Amino acid sequence: MQNPRINRGFFIYFEVVKRIAVFTSGGDAPGMNACIRAVVRASVHFNLEVFGIHGGYQGMIENDIHPMSASSVANIIQYGGTILKTARSKDFMSPEGRKKAYENLQSHGIEGLVCIGGNGTYTGAMKFYEEFGIPAVGCPGTIDNDLAGTDYTIGYDTAINTAMDAIDKIRDTADAHNRVFFIEVMGRHSGHIALNAGIAGGAEGIFIPEKENEFEEIMKFYEQKSRTKQFSIFVVAEGEQEGHAFDIAKKFQSKFPDCDSRVTVLGHIQRGGKPTANDRILASRLGAHAVKALTEGIKGVAVGIINNEVVFTPFQQAIYDKKDINQKLWIMNDILTR
Ligand code: F6P
Repeated sequence: MQNPRINRGFFIYFEVVKRIAVFTSGGDAPGMNACIRAVVRASVHFNLEVFGIHGGYQGMIENDIHPMSASSVANIIQYGGTILKTARSKDFMSPEGRKKAYENLQSHGIEGLVCIGGNGTYTGAMKFYEEFGIPAVGCPGTIDNDLAGTDYTIGYDTAINTAMDAIDKIRDTADAHNRVFFIEVMGRHSGHIALNAGIAGGAEGIFIPEKENEFEEIMKFYEQKSRTKQFSIFVVAEGEQEGHAFDIAKKFQSKFPDCDSRVTVLGHIQRGGKPTANDRILASRLGAHAVKALTEGIKGVAVGIINNEVVFTPFQQAIYDKKDINQKLWIMNDILTR
């Protein structure tokens, strides 16, 4: 007989898998713990046995795989980082490494995976399914917000709030000294953090990899403004084509030798800290729906939320489709900063 808990509203029970595992992989992101919690608690709800793999794909190869229960995820929702640890595994890129990982999963009777991470995480899960047929559902976890198939990734909201907070603080000292600051934020290949933290922080100019030759354009307006405004804030995405914040500051200094400029690279501070409410809620929804999908036989997909609806996107598409920045925001920001 079916567990009566299972038939309540949200969850319909298909029982395709009985034993699953969850892991985090790639760069950590605030909210990953909330997602792990949701995966474990939803598994309990569905009467599935759930295991935690420590250290991502590397942990799978090293058999660092342990049973989890509802109580193993108590009191973690408020913390950044990931209780399961994370890694970027070189060994998993080799067929031998993946074979070892498969054998270890088999030895635990694991029939499905929930992987939390970014592009590399999805690529690993896709390859693993192709080779060994282990069904996987991905939850987008990266502060960069650069994954297709979801409006927002886990950790992004916290990261932009952290960056905005830092910009506010730098603004005080910039104002006090009449200085120009170039603040570098993360975003290896994308400008989502820079654009949104820049808007929230009232930056005079934003440099992102999705746009070309911003320097001349931004400086044209800076020149006009600097007659009335003594200090300025510029936000630079780590992946900006014209160079890092130090390169842009150097270019600026040679154009305006009388200005006093400084550079702040925010770095990994953006990856840590208490996840915001938005990230916790997003992570909880994604984790719960990833497990639900596995019980329904859905696999090879990333779960996401678009326009507040849960959607599933094939790994292939989530990996290769480019999530563009919001062009309307870019144009609006241009108007607001002039
Ligand atoms: O992928 C997220 C990210 O935060 C990038 O923006 C950044 O380039 C990268 O991780 C740095 O990661 P790590 O220092 O862990 O290699």
